[in-house]
Amino acid sequence: MDVLVTGGAGYIGSQTVYTLIEHGFSPVVIDDLSTGKKSLLPKDTPFYEGRISQPGLLDKIFEKHKIEAVMHFAGSIMVAESFEKPLFYFENNVTQTLRLLEACRKHKVSYFVNSSSAAIYGLPDVIPISEDTVKKPINPYGTSKLMAEMLLSDLSASFADDMKTAVLRYFNVAGADPQGRTGECPPISSHLVKIACETILGKRDHIKMFGQDYPTQDGTAIRDYIHVVDLAEAHIAALKHLQKKNKNITLNCGYGYGFSVQQVLSCVEKVAGKSLNIIHADRRRGDPPELVADISALRKTLDWRPKHDSLEEIVETALAWEKGLLDQQT
Ligand code: UFG
Repeated sequence: MDVLVTGGAGYIGSQTVYTLIEHGFSPVVIDDLSTGKKSLLPKDTPFYEGRISQPGLLDKIFEKHKIEAVMHFAGSIMVAESFEKPLFYFENNVTQTLRLLEACRKHKVSYFVNSSSAAIYGLPDVIPISEDTVKKPINPYGTSKLMAEMLLSDLSASFADDMKTAVLRYFNVAGADPQGRTGECPPISSHLVKIACETILGKRDHIKMFGQDYPTQDGTAIRDYIHVVDLAEAHIAALKHLQKKNKNITLNCGYGYGFSVQQVLSCVEKVAGKSLNIIHADRRRGDPPELVADISALRKTLDWRPKHDSLEEIVETALAWEKGLLDQQT
């Protein structure tokens, strides 16, 4: 089956491309390369450079390939940036999704797997967070992801027999491909594990620890970190579920437990055998104190089990990836 992967040259998209191939699917990638890199992809992957809304581009792809499923990763993901450029976030995450869905209707796509985010929950009252927790995003990024979910939900309600949808709400994705084929390398990243690895390798002088006064055990914010390989596998399991059960699903994707910023930084120091230069800073705007997923639905619904669920493995693979990037530069 040909699967169109939007944003397929990005961090999670490219990992999923490798995983799709391993499961016998044929990925076709569209990416505008604003944050992705073509070199992250297997050499012979059909690749189209451009934006989803580029006139004629999607029609060309759908005419050339028999696309039955779409996995939609393309979008902007940085909370801080979303405060500076909210319209850019609504354009990239909402309008582009709308254009993609129009093309899916036109070309009769059967399955749509959508990247969503824990950011849609805002400041949840109850931890762990289940899928029906109240959704009140506290930053434009979260709002844009919720709007995209609403588009998809109304569309699939109106045309229930045409296209089945899976919405995957990612918690904090981290780590890199254990085989070193792909990993996180956008021009700018704000992700904790990546920045900590860059700091330990001397690419940065220090790392800021944003907020030490959260209502958590050590005062730093807690997140549910999921290895990118397990997340990629969840996409394939979701697609297979849609094929088999023909029923829409919405699932939180994490491991169901969290680590504080302090714990993550200590783990990076332990794995690297070196200390980090940590600077205490104020809380970052739009950061909730704790985001941990309830993954009972994920475990119950999909034929999926985590295989890389140790913080050490997340850090080891991320560190190996960063070392590789550094070696390429020197
Ligand atoms: N942090 C630091 N220092 C840094 C970077 C991050 O202290 O240099 C802290 C943040 O303040 C936060 C935690 O580490 O408390 C995690 O921050 P990340 O930037 O790694 O991740 P976020 O939780 O902000 O966001 C990520 C994705 C979002 C997604 C969210 C869901 O970027 O797309 O996870 O949990 F919505």
